[in-house]
Amino acid sequence: MKLSFEEEIKRRRTFGIVSHPDAGKTTLTEKLLLFGGAIQEAGAVKSNKIKKGATSDFMEIERQRGISVATSVLAFEYKNIKINILDTPGHKDFAEDTFRTLTAVDSVIVVIDVAKGVEEQTEKLVSVCRMRKIPMIVFINKMDREGKDAFDLLDEVEQKLGLRVTPLSFPIGMGYDFKGIYNIWEKNINLFSDESSKNILDTTEIEDLESEQLDQLVGEKSANTLREEIELTSGIYPEFNKEEYQNGDLQPVFFGSALNNFGVRELLDCFVDIAPMPRPKESDVREVFPTEKKFTGFVFKIHANMDPKHRDRLAFIKIVSGTFERNTPYLHTRLGKKLKFSSPNAFFAEKKEIVDISFPGDIVGLHDTGNFKIGDTLTAGEQMNYKGIPSFSPEHFRYINNADPMKSKQLAKGIDQLMDEGVAQLFTLDLNGRKVIGTVGALQYEVIQYRLEHEYGAKCSYENLNVHKACWIQAEDEKSEEFKEFKRVKSKFLAKDKRDQLVFLADSHFSLQMTQDKYKGLKFHFTSEFDN
Ligand code: G4P
Repeated sequence: MKLSFEEEIKRRRTFGIVSHPDAGKTTLTEKLLLFGGAIQEAGAVKSNKIKKGATSDFMEIERQRGISVATSVLAFEYKNIKINILDTPGHKDFAEDTFRTLTAVDSVIVVIDVAKGVEEQTEKLVSVCRMRKIPMIVFINKMDREGKDAFDLLDEVEQKLGLRVTPLSFPIGMGYDFKGIYNIWEKNINLFSDESSKNILDTTEIEDLESEQLDQLVGEKSANTLREEIELTSGIYPEFNKEEYQNGDLQPVFFGSALNNFGVRELLDCFVDIAPMPRPKESDVREVFPTEKKFTGFVFKIHANMDPKHRDRLAFIKIVSGTFERNTPYLHTRLGKKLKFSSPNAFFAEKKEIVDISFPGDIVGLHDTGNFKIGDTLTAGEQMNYKGIPSFSPEHFRYINNADPMKSKQLAKGIDQLMDEGVAQLFTLDLNGRKVIGTVGALQYEVIQYRLEHEYGAKCSYENLNVHKACWIQAEDEKSEEFKEFKRVKSKFLAKDKRDQLVFLADSHFSLQMTQDKYKGLKFHFTSEFDN
């Protein structure tokens, strides 16, 4: 049966899983795919995390890049819902990549390790989701291990992540004593058994908390504790409300063990029920709705040069509105030219296939020979740009020097393309034209050096540069004496980013503060995107 355009949109859920490394993101992803029948056995989804201690191992970086192409988008169907999981790198040095991917998701699942609680990387990622009002579901993982008390953990999630939570499932014991989960959402119980990892649909259910069956199943003591705890939760936590969740004002919490496939079905069933379908998106001219017939979309990720012999790149486009069709010319709004694509890729589990038509919420991978940058917009003809893929101030800054004078062209091209891909940020100093590379983590410098050599045949070296923070400068009046003075006095610290925006490279927290205090007519932005 052919579905209508609106029905196709309504049945799509595009989301990302965020967590601190090792909390269980890969394991959970895999179990979700198992439910969707998209993979047959555990172990099929490879973790894209960089192994500890392997930061200088380039084979490891290449391996990671290979895997992250394969797992960039994992799509499957469950209960006639088309689910797109957008993979996010776990390593903190690639945090910027994750931030960009979050611009393409309609909701997020946050995985937390029951023993470790809220960790640093989770805090950062959740704060971005909170700022963007992305609906979030929290999954507390590894309940088969000894960990923190459920109420303490809920407190911690509220306080450290700034969320307003309500549990939709509740654990019965934990670790050795873990007996199962009461599903508040569906009002039934699933008991934990070691068998559950073998047969993922096998669960014991009872309808009523008061029934004696509960005492028989988990023992009188656990049964009574559970009854008390559930009563307590209904007193403490707000009642679940789908609208509040979808507005980013309330976050439901589930408990489980991804490894044992326990509590995952509850999470998925609830997810397909409550998670938002593709959401409208703001552009520089207007808000665009998924149900609009004309195609629009934007590039949130670029993967390049997996085969060094071919300068081929795969640009990942999130479809915001209309349908994306093969061999149809679309307007690349930054370049002002029409492009058409003969082999757009769609993603199914770990495979990609050429497709004729894709719908809002879907991701298509387009082969590109250098037309795309992160953040570019494609439309059916309308001149507009999607907002919301800003760069943040890098944490590390180094001069990049040409180490092989015969290869300066190759070096320039390589740097240019790697920056388009979003590997790092390039700043050109006003004073002398020297190039500075800014990154989130030290690892990127090795990646850049390695890729320049292997993909572009160019050699580079680095030189340290003392920069505390980059901020983007906006003058209320570009002709003002104040702005002129600022540019003269601070000329040593000024640079242009890739879009030719003026950037101040402050060498210390103190000098940044002094400068901000002194030049009141200037605005200091900490991301590259701001309203003019
Ligand atoms: P990540 O993608 O978030 O980094 O985490 P990943 O799924 O790779 O899980 C990290 C480790 O935690 C893995 O163990 C995994 O088996 C384990 N794990 C995940 N879910 C659970 C759970 O519910 N209970 C328990 N006890 N462990 C869980 P590892 O030893 O690092 O890797 P592996 O050798 O098992 O692959």
